Formats: sequence, C-alpha cells, structure tokens
Amino acid sequence: MQRTPNRHVAFGHGVHYCVGAPLARLEGRIALETLVSRFPRLRLAVPREELRWRKTTVLRGLEALPVRVD
Ligand code: HEM
Repeated sequence: MQRTPNRHVAFGHGVHYCVGAPLARLEGRIALETLVSRFPRLRLAVPREELRWRKTTVLRGLEALPVRVD
C-alpha cells in the first residue's frame, strides 16, 4: 500500500456516500463475530496461494473460500 491517504471507497464517496454503511458494517461485524464464535477452529481448507480472485473490477471477491473445522 504505497498511496496515502488510501481510504477505501467500497461505500462510495461524497454526497452519494452509502446511507446504509453503518447498518452494513454492523451486520458484517455480527455475522463474522457469530461465525468465529460458533466455529473457533475455522481454517482455510486450501493453501492461501490457491485462492482465486474473480476477474472483474465491479465487485471484487474470491471465486470460492474453502474452509474446514479442525
Ligand atoms: C456491504 C454492503 C453495501 C455496500 C458495499 C454498499 C455500497 C454503496 C455504494 C458504493 C454506494 C454509492 C453509489 C454511488 O455513488 O452512486 C451506495 C449508496 C447507497 N446505499 Fe449502499 N451499500 C451497502 C449496503 C447498503 C444498505 C444495507 C443500505 C440500506 C439499508 C444501503 C443504501 C444505500 C443508498 C440509499 C444509497 C444511495 C445514497 C445516495 O445516493 O445518496 N446500502 N452504497
């Protein structure tokens, strides 16, 4: 990360900044906290070098996130 400041723009920017951002952040936090508290031994099921990113600039994300519970 070489640019500073380098704030993300996932929720947009300026006057049209996402009005649902606080709700989305809260939902995300609850979902992830619930997931790791229910599955504390959740682990990647493949080496991280094998993870593939979707080939689009519209919605960045993994093609798949294989996980396992030890
Ligand atoms: C992870 C979830 C979300 C992401 C990534 C996201 C992303 C965005 C982005 C990038 C914009 C700006 C669009 C633009 O500049 O034209 C936006 C606008 C908006 N978002 Fe979200 N959003 C999310 C969740 C939500 C939720 C949960 C709500 C409502 C409950 C919501 C309501 C809105 C509204 C009403 C606008 C238009 C704001 C305006 O134009 O003034 N969003 N969102």
